[in-house]
Amino acid sequence: MTLEQELTALLEGKTKTVGNRVFWLEETDSTNLVCRRLAGEGMPEGAVVLARAQRAGRGRRGRNFQSTKDLGMYLSVLLRPVQDMQTLSNMTAWVAVAVCEGVEKVCGVRPQIKWINDIILNGKKLGGILTELGLEPGAGKIDHLVVGIGLNVNHSREDFEPELREMATSLSLELEEVPALPELAAEIVLALDRMYANFPDNRMEYLEHYRAGCITTGKQVQLITPASREEGEALTIDEQFRLVLRMADGEERAVSAGEVSVRGMYGYL
Ligand code: BTN
Repeated sequence: MTLEQELTALLEGKTKTVGNRVFWLEETDSTNLVCRRLAGEGMPEGAVVLARAQRAGRGRRGRNFQSTKDLGMYLSVLLRPVQDMQTLSNMTAWVAVAVCEGVEKVCGVRPQIKWINDIILNGKKLGGILTELGLEPGAGKIDHLVVGIGLNVNHSREDFEPELREMATSLSLELEEVPALPELAAEIVLALDRMYANFPDNRMEYLEHYRAGCITTGKQVQLITPASREEGEALTIDEQFRLVLRMADGEERAVSAGEVSVRGMYGYL
């Protein structure tokens, strides 16, 4: 069986929306870009695109996401949500909870979350999420949303580029037994399907899981914008999934992912 057939069989009859179509490509530029192209061709929501390798894997803030053949899980979902921009801005956080749930189901350990979208295992980055909005031409209305998830699975330490070695990890570096990619992808797709069926109504449930898994709160962090760097203490996650900080001058401030990036004062976390 091909990877695509294996995943299709694992999902058979189990999903409502996410995973109703599955494509597993040998290689592509980026699975997020494939979803965007499918959206332009009128593909309905729920399609899942994976690739064994990506030539131009994309991370947040224009960064590259290393996507070597068969080492990671590179997965994107095409959605066509009806909610407004403000509501959808929380979806990355909900996706992070779903990814943790899927990994826990198949691996027996639950990763943590570095606000807002880094998936952390034993203090190192296991993966990340890149959500991209597609607008209707001219109208400013949302046409589609692409949720992209990258997880490091079979990497040895040397498989990471030298600048990532200290902060990145993979399932094979952390676990005795590593799941096969179709099993891992299936549990993540099922968790995403549950998440999407609950979105945005079960906010308190996802918020509670997010707060419980978030490693950023309680830490001294640097808030980085294109114009400045400021220090503060991360206090909590508010009901809009914003990070609430106490700044050096005592002022409390809630920031959203679009405005700032957050770095620990002592290294990546
Ligand atoms: C980040 O950590 O900055 C986000 C990384 C997201 C990577 C995934 S891999 C599947 C999908 N396709 C992409 O090009 N990017 C996302």
